[in-house]
Amino acid sequence: MASNIEAYAELCNITFGYLKSMALDCAIKLGIPKAIHLCGGGASLADILATVPMPESRRPYLPRLMRFLAASGIFSVDLDVAAAGEEGIYRLTPVSRLLVDDDSSLAPFVLTHTGKHLAGAALHLPDWFESDDPAAETPFRMAHGADLWGIMGCGDDAEMMNRLFNAGMASYSRFMMDFVVCERDVFEGLSSLVDVGGGTGTVARTIAGAFPHVKCSVLDLPNVIESIPADADGAVDYIAGDMMKSVPSADAVLLKARNLLHRFIS
Ligand SMILES: C[S@@+](CC[C@H](N)C(=O)[O-])C[C@H]1O[C@@H](n2cnc3c(N)ncnc32)[C@H](O)[C@@H]1O
Repeated sequence: MASNIEAYAELCNITFGYLKSMALDCAIKLGIPKAIHLCGGGASLADILATVPMPESRRPYLPRLMRFLAASGIFSVDLDVAAAGEEGIYRLTPVSRLLVDDDSSLAPFVLTHTGKHLAGAALHLPDWFESDDPAAETPFRMAHGADLWGIMGCGDDAEMMNRLFNAGMASYSRFMMDFVVCERDVFEGLSSLVDVGGGTGTVARTIAGAFPHVKCSVLDLPNVIESIPADADGAVDYIAGDMMKSVPSADAVLLKARNLLHRFIS
């Protein structure tokens, strides 16, 4: 009997799991992690409401959102009434601390994956498995009529998607590359490297900075390469092209950030 209850609890956890990512998306868009950070890492509801604009009619719902975010580990809450007052003090956790620094925040990475295009594609998974339509090569294509790169290349959402996706990839790459460049042996003996599908060049620039003897270049689709600001420092060559047609020659080819999930959602 007890194990059935545990199984039910786990089923609920999985069933309502999407609410955690949607609540996180909401918190980032409202600027709640930043508001807590600006209050020194701990803030009451009144403190949060002082910086997060919200109509009067929605304010009574903020405690519910904050309790849910705290239950999900995104914030913690100090409910010691003596110390924190009746409404509690919400604090950043190790998870939400990753979202507040202007230079290294992972907020763009989260928003890329919780947005309507990628999250919406996942809703098409069962239809996609049941369909034999060759045009619906992925659930994303079934949902949006084009793949992610097609949507970023043209159409009404192209500019927004380029900005969102490129910023998301860059924020996640900045974070990961701090660990990767510590593996110095990997880059020994290389004089050139091409990052294929290298986005706006965050990874290549980090490698070029840490290993100046490695000449780095980035190959990506024209819409991505064109979005790189003209004043980029020149440490990396940017090449617009299609990896399916040709890849520039180099001592090493880097392919980063393709995984099983991306096959479904992009
Ligand atoms: C998941 S992102 C990874 C970006 C980067 N490697 C990173 O880790 O931040 C995949 C990248 O591949 C690029 N891409 C997709 N199809 C491509 C193609 N046919 N030729 C070149 N680049 C492509 C996309 O524009 C995007 O920047």
